[in-house]
Amino acid sequence: MKGDWRAEPIVADEKRGEVRRLKPNPNSASSRKDSDEPTIRFIRAQDFHNRYSRLIKWELEDEMAQVDERLRSWSKQKLLAHGYALLELQARNSGWLFGERVVKFHAGKGKSLGSHRFSHGDIITICRTDPVKEIPIEGIVLMRKRNSLSVVVSENLDKIRSGTWRIDRGANRVAHDRMQDALREILRDEPPTPLADLLLGRPRDVNESAESRPQFRGIKSREVFAPTDLNESQTTAFYASMNNRLSLIQGPPGTGKTHTAVRILKGWTEQGTGPILAAADSNVAVDNLLEGLLKLGVKAVRVGQPVKVRAQLRGATVRARVEEHPLQEEVRELIGLQENLQRRLPALKGKERGLAHRDLKMGWKDIRSLEEAMAEDVLNSAEVVCSTCIGAGHMILGNKKFSNILIDEATQAIEPATWVPIMRSCRRLVLVGDHRQLPPTVISRRAEDDGLRLSMFERLVEIGLQPHMLNTQYRMHPVISEYSSARYYDNQLENGVTAQERPAPAGFLWPDWDAPVAFVPVDGAEE
Ligand SMILES: Nc1ncnc2c1ncn2[C@@H]1O[C@H](COP(=O)(O)OP(=O)(O)OP(=O)(O)O)[C@@H](O)[C@H]1O
Ligand SMILES: [Mg+2]
Repeated sequence: MKGDWRAEPIVADEKRGEVRRLKPNPNSASSRKDSDEPTIRFIRAQDFHNRYSRLIKWELEDEMAQVDERLRSWSKQKLLAHGYALLELQARNSGWLFGERVVKFHAGKGKSLGSHRFSHGDIITICRTDPVKEIPIEGIVLMRKRNSLSVVVSENLDKIRSGTWRIDRGANRVAHDRMQDALREILRDEPPTPLADLLLGRPRDVNESAESRPQFRGIKSREVFAPTDLNESQTTAFYASMNNRLSLIQGPPGTGKTHTAVRILKGWTEQGTGPILAAADSNVAVDNLLEGLLKLGVKAVRVGQPVKVRAQLRGATVRARVEEHPLQEEVRELIGLQENLQRRLPALKGKERGLAHRDLKMGWKDIRSLEEAMAEDVLNSAEVVCSTCIGAGHMILGNKKFSNILIDEATQAIEPATWVPIMRSCRRLVLVGDHRQLPPTVISRRAEDDGLRLSMFERLVEIGLQPHMLNTQYRMHPVISEYSSARYYDNQLENGVTAQERPAPAGFLWPDWDAPVAFVPVDGAEE
């Protein structure tokens, strides 16, 4: 049933698929009713909600079905051979990561784990022999080494050193739930963001609407000037982001999207227009923003489990900052008292015992509220909060609002993920990405067929919003960028590096030393 959500079938005029388009065509909104094109403008919020709510439901169902199907129908040997499971592992506790238990799994003395698909940040399940029959424990991979896998676990493993363990891949239900929560907000009479109308594509002239000034409820913005380490196209994007309520910044690889993004975020701190959120779809991209901000001296803090954050940046997580908080001493004292009381409990009788139970309960409540107060304090004293899109739905943020939101790598995020941060009362939005590079990953075939790979960024481009294009790349040898410039970017891409600055790496016989490009067959998997 595709017809039910097509209340406003204004569709894109280009066929979408595996092959990317040759030329940018930002004014491509047309009313051709091609039955395979997803809706891109939504007059009714209800249509928008129903469509995306269904797509992410399919995505979750199909992901879980895939995991389940594999577990039920594949033999252990096949799961092992394809790297989806690790069997007969030995385990031992291996310290803590900010209060969470770390467990190290290995294959036994001198044995290697072999090739497998588990890497840093993956959600896994842990059991003894059969995840379908047992109730597995959840974990997140902290570190992968040749002979071992370190995992942060949600609960302690019972009799950890006796017997062996099994690890499988898990599905991400949390992400689904947070996206559903965000989507529901659009159904309110007054959605939490004044950008809702524009983002649904309702205004006749989306560019005019996007270029209007953001409204910050009476806060006057201070004037700021672009830093001198931005080139011309980056400077234009910078000022648009200072003045407009919605901007798209598009840039081919290595054109300084992230470089510009962190300077925009810093510019916002100088403008003084309320709380700022720096988001991205992946943990790696958020880490890059965080790193850039810290380098510029911006007070930035990272939301998210430390296990998913790059090691050098873990000190900037809310968790780490809370551990250094002055109130922590009080918490430790309280915990000491609690443990004392707990120890005395078995010896107590009758009324005394009842009162002790009550005191214990109240004690834990006090500790929790102190912890919340510390987290709130850490968040409020930061100039910029950094988080993944899904992480922006985390409890730790309470009902904190962010009037200024920038999302890097926005073309890698499925649309509902993008709405999670935006629903925190966004009044000004900058989306950074490149719809000419890979679209978001979608597991469900039916969700993909129905358009879940269309990011918000790309949908906005299709309804006619003009992105600010960054046109100078600083990463590749000019001969490499020559191809992508011609093939994907209308020959608009310039080079900020010379051939001399990118000498061909030694140790390989290049077919042409002046144009060091070669395709090399690779056996085996990524390590
Ligand atoms: N105006 C500039 N002058 C000099 N170097 C720059 C400038 N802008 C960016 N760079 C450099 O170019 C490199 C790539 O920048 P950056 O990582 O921000 O690009 P990107 O567009 O985000 O790349 P990706 O597509 O991988 O996300 C970095 O080393 C950065 O320091
Ligand atoms: Mg980048």
